[in-house]
Amino acid sequence: MEIAKLIEERLGEQIELHKRHVNPALARVLQIIDYDVAYTRGEGAYLYDDGGNRYLDFLSGYGVYQVGRSHPVLKETLHQLLDLDRPNLIQMDCPLLAGLLAERLTERAQRSYPGLDAVFFTNSGAEAVEGSLKFSRAATKRDRFVYIDHAFHGLTLGALSVNGSPHFREGFGQLLPSTGVPLNDLNALKRELERADVAAFIAEPIQGKGVYMPDDEYLPEAQRLCRKHGTVFIVDEIQAGLGRTGRFFGGEHWGLEPDIVPISKALSGGFIPVGAILIRRDLHKKTFSGLERCVVHSNTFGMNELAMGAGLATLEVLESENLIENAARQGERLLAGLRDMQSRYEMLHDVRGKGLMIGMEFGPPKSLKLKAAWKALETMQAGLFAQLVVMGLMRDHRLLTQVSGHRVNIIKFLPPLILSDEDVDFALSAIDATLDKAHKLRGGLWDLGRQLVKAALKR
Ligand SMILES: Cc1ncc(COP(=O)(O)O)c(C=O)c1O
Repeated sequence: MEIAKLIEERLGEQIELHKRHVNPALARVLQIIDYDVAYTRGEGAYLYDDGGNRYLDFLSGYGVYQVGRSHPVLKETLHQLLDLDRPNLIQMDCPLLAGLLAERLTERAQRSYPGLDAVFFTNSGAEAVEGSLKFSRAATKRDRFVYIDHAFHGLTLGALSVNGSPHFREGFGQLLPSTGVPLNDLNALKRELERADVAAFIAEPIQGKGVYMPDDEYLPEAQRLCRKHGTVFIVDEIQAGLGRTGRFFGGEHWGLEPDIVPISKALSGGFIPVGAILIRRDLHKKTFSGLERCVVHSNTFGMNELAMGAGLATLEVLESENLIENAARQGERLLAGLRDMQSRYEMLHDVRGKGLMIGMEFGPPKSLKLKAAWKALETMQAGLFAQLVVMGLMRDHRLLTQVSGHRVNIIKFLPPLILSDEDVDFALSAIDATLDKAHKLRGGLWDLGRQLVKAALKR
């Protein structure tokens, strides 16, 4: 098969193909917001289109490109594995590479989270969350789960049961018994745990949807309450883990010691889907409790060779290139630059995050001239201002970002951890220029809002 030739011949047809065969609604949205670019190459922190234009990627494929795109160590590892004709997916077998990755993961995990000495491999983040919920039920013989408002843990039915957004939950029927509590409200959590029927409390160290941050005492105290009431404490590191926040695990910022930790995304090196559940052996044994139950929870592709190789190579690159330290340093620079803008742009209400997981929240302006324009936009659709900034960043600066959640005025930055000083300076000046135009009611940003709504209604 001549895949390169096929790509060359059909390049430019992607939107039409998706309209016909995949997800027409998504294809239309991408057209409306001018995100229908024909990308041809990805390297490091950059993407390139068919016109040779370069884009700085502050989205990282929803946070999988910690090591950057097309990393040579990842490519070389995968090429080697392919050339070795490895005996893959034998199933009635203990694959060596899965054992080696589990060894590396538990060794690294325990430097941050003591006690996590067993691993279960999955194909995705949601599957790692599903398994974590099942393991918690098996360990506690309880049914209910508690999650935090705005939480995002994946979209399969179990993971959806601990999703904190009505937008995602509605329309899919009855979910698992579960209760949402407001972030940072320890009394609400305590009330739920005291009912002594909660299998697990699940939390992201920093919430991916909205980049909402826990108060410093919240997660440590939540952990203490879970211990007290016999509830498993799951910390979902699928997005915040593997260096994203400037530490190996996001929860390290608060000295946590969770019972179960699902990871995924960046472990793939951006190449092969993979996930893992890191868990204490005593809890693992409650599911895999004897020889007869040795595959009572299992999957077909979880330990496939290429995924294991990608995981090993990713861990090596994170360490050998000091990417976690770089994430902490560049994150500080980015945060400082954005905070500096807060004094100049009255609509920039908050800047928050850790390492390279950063949110920028907009809110109503104070000055009269801007108030009317803001109100007109927000009446058309909540969250439209942030979407227009995202579009301005792309159109004028080729900086790829996203709005962080449904109808919220929050933009999230999740760049690769390989970011250079120049990349950060470029992004800051792009954001500054875009906000400056919006602030001066120039550059067509506000008119774009009207056009956008018109285009959405027409299609
Ligand atoms: C914190 C968190 N948990 C779980 C998931 C689900 O992962 P996946 O999309 O691989 O199913 C995500 C995905 O964005 C996530 O951010």
